Amino acid sequence: MDSQGLPGFRDLYPDEAALRSYILSVWRDVAERYGFEEYDGPPLEPLDLYTKKSGDEIVGQLYTFEDRGGRAVALRPEMTPTLARMVAARAQGLKKPIRWYSMPQLFRYERPQRGRLREHYQLNMDVIGEAGPLADAELIAAALDVMRAFGLGPRDVRVKISDRRVLRVLLIARGLEATQVDVALQHIDKSGRAPRDVLRDKLADALSISRDMADRVLAVGDVKGLDAMDAALTKGAKDANAGTDLHKCVAALTAMGLGEFVEVDFSIVRGLAYYTGIVFELFDAGGSLRAICGGGRYDGLLEALGSVNLPAVGFGMGDVVLAEILQTRAEPLVVRSRLDAFLVSVSSDDAPYVWGLAHRLRDLGLSVEFSLRTQPVAKQLKLAAAREAKHALIVGPDERQAEEVVVRHLATGEESRVGADEVLEPSFWTKQAEASPLL
Ligand code: HAM
Repeated sequence: MDSQGLPGFRDLYPDEAALRSYILSVWRDVAERYGFEEYDGPPLEPLDLYTKKSGDEIVGQLYTFEDRGGRAVALRPEMTPTLARMVAARAQGLKKPIRWYSMPQLFRYERPQRGRLREHYQLNMDVIGEAGPLADAELIAAALDVMRAFGLGPRDVRVKISDRRVLRVLLIARGLEATQVDVALQHIDKSGRAPRDVLRDKLADALSISRDMADRVLAVGDVKGLDAMDAALTKGAKDANAGTDLHKCVAALTAMGLGEFVEVDFSIVRGLAYYTGIVFELFDAGGSLRAICGGGRYDGLLEALGSVNLPAVGFGMGDVVLAEILQTRAEPLVVRSRLDAFLVSVSSDDAPYVWGLAHRLRDLGLSVEFSLRTQPVAKQLKLAAAREAKHALIVGPDERQAEEVVVRHLATGEESRVGADEVLEPSFWTKQAEASPLL
């Protein structure tokens, strides 16, 4: 039997699983603070849910097969089409704007590399039914507040924002036909990942334009900042107001106190085909890792998948890059929950009493373990230490006789005899935690 798992799929040992749980709990916490409700969908979907609108890049990464009923199916590579289908199916009855979140596991057949695997968990937050740019700002703020909840500030992460409507207007002002814009956007999207001259040649060939023209087209992705955008829009653009929503969105983020995180950057296009307006990505400030989060406005997707015309905006944030950033931080994260008590039997006659005590302590909500075989006390205490238990509770014939328990703080070695009734009082454990908060 091959003892290795598949490439790009993770085995999570307890420390890694604890980090994942911590990430998911922070995601949930921030989403709930923003008043979002949780939803979920199936991990297996009809193939055409993705082939219709997600775009070639993600369709090329699908895990797809024919099920026993002859249906073409795919493991979900993203959540947005499922969300669009679910909302479209019940759009009438749902109070708008809809604010929903989900934390699905997703599957993409990508080349496994730093920050990109073949499965990942992704926080999705989406607002559906609001076309104004404050919805975009609210979602960018939520993504940034997730970063802040992990202790990451503007020195650690940045959000790069752009707008496909502005990109479209700028590209047409530089001489492209409307039908050529999508291909140009796909090439600008690759700006950071491929050398400029290679991209220029590919774009020139794809659109049958000159290399000079291709250079001018790719240069649209070099526009950075609102002032540069305004200046570019005044030069021959048909719609000089195309940047209004982006201005409003950035102003809202500044009013929320998040301005320091924000960079306007038109190299951000996003790989997915369905985006129609503001798009954004979060990166580590050093710029050495893949995107932490990506999202944007997709006003046409619900209509395409469910014939309901509702504007929508949202983002997806993966756990892979995030875990990498959190693991390299100076102060280690204490994410593993530790045992409150390890129960020790002095003799095998004490064991049934200890099992009963363990059960009652667990009923109180404490985390408790005891040895599953008869062992000398020293061995049991060794296991307690290896488990990083906060206390050992030791019970022998004398303690049982006196209806007492020996409570030992494992970090300090301090011991005291405590009445068995007292150990079963929640207030005893509150006092222990207060006396030595770091234990
Ligand atoms: P996406 O940019 O494809 O967008 O993915 C969003 C985030 O998911 C990425 O920034 C990254 O953190 C994570 N991610 C994506 N692929 C992988 C991978 N192979 N391994 C590890 N992490 C990955 C979407 O999926 C959109 N549906 C997001 C969205 C929601 N747009 C609107 N609402």
